[in-house]
Amino acid sequence: MEQVRFDEKVAVITGAGGGLGKAYALLLASRGAKVVVNDLGGTFDGSGSDSTPAQQVVDEIKASGGEAVASYDSVAEYESAQKIINTALDTYGKIDILINNAGILRDKSLVKMEVEDYRKIMSVHLDGTFFCTKAAFPSMKEQEYGRIISTASAAGLYGNFGQTNYGAAKMGIVGLMNSVAQEGMRYNIKANTIVPTAGTRLTFTVMPEDVISKVKPDYVAPIVAWLSSDNCEESGKMFSAGGGYYARAAVVEGHGITFGLEKEITVEMIAENMDKITSLEDAREYSSAMEQAGTVLSKMSGQ
Ligand code: NAI
Repeated sequence: MEQVRFDEKVAVITGAGGGLGKAYALLLASRGAKVVVNDLGGTFDGSGSDSTPAQQVVDEIKASGGEAVASYDSVAEYESAQKIINTALDTYGKIDILINNAGILRDKSLVKMEVEDYRKIMSVHLDGTFFCTKAAFPSMKEQEYGRIISTASAAGLYGNFGQTNYGAAKMGIVGLMNSVAQEGMRYNIKANTIVPTAGTRLTFTVMPEDVISKVKPDYVAPIVAWLSSDNCEESGKMFSAGGGYYARAAVVEGHGITFGLEKEITVEMIAENMDKITSLEDAREYSSAMEQAGTVLSKMSGQ
């Protein structure tokens, strides 16, 4: 296969001053992309700011002969998210690739979680992904080209103790990307979601040190790069990646049971048929809410 390249492509990567975002930035730049390296540079729980991390990644890319510019704005407010995207438009004249990756953690059990911890997580992850995507979308639509990769988490897909805020935001991102994929379809804008596992400062409290050093962000970067590339046709999909493992994840719906509407449907009928309702045998994946609604209506009319 020919080498996948990003010559003439402009990529914005949020939270690219370290961890996964840095790995994406280095890989894309090494293959010809002009990269906006965005990072607010705060602590892992979202306090403070520092221009050093983004600048260091830019310096590293330039030292290897690549092209990059730093952006220190936060994804968490719309005006500053617009500035991030404008850095690409003003410096390089366009934006082809957006990787929504910036993130923080504020883990606490539901009872102990302050409303502020919930809001802060929603604002960086979910609002930040919405704001950057909304700011980038018009240019992508006009040029009829765009690749958007956003970042979810197994904590969202499957749940995790102490991460009600983070899990909600991360699953919200899946819903956001599903609809962005539909709106982008006519304009060659593909939107996908990555579910990564990597040793970074966000995972150093939950992963043993030797695992942290082995599960390198570099292993997630190749699939993110592929999803960012010209020839990738995937859209509206979720991919898990980490430590050399790559797989698609999906929301599916079971075959279920359909009762005729000629007589009353009782609570007992539900209870007695819970095995059929719960079963995922012959489960299917829907490509849109409309397709799912069509199935519901056709079952109702007995087709
Ligand atoms: P990281 O802490 O190394 O990287 C996140 C970066 O985002 C940091 O450099 C931080 O300064 C930046 N950032 C935080 N708030 C920002 C804001 N408001 N505006 C701009 N930049 C901001 O952590 P990691 O692990 O590389 O995380 C990257 C993404 O992957 C996050 O969205 C995280 O939730 C997600 N993720 C990571 C997993 C892992 O195993 N490392 C697992 C699941 C999801």
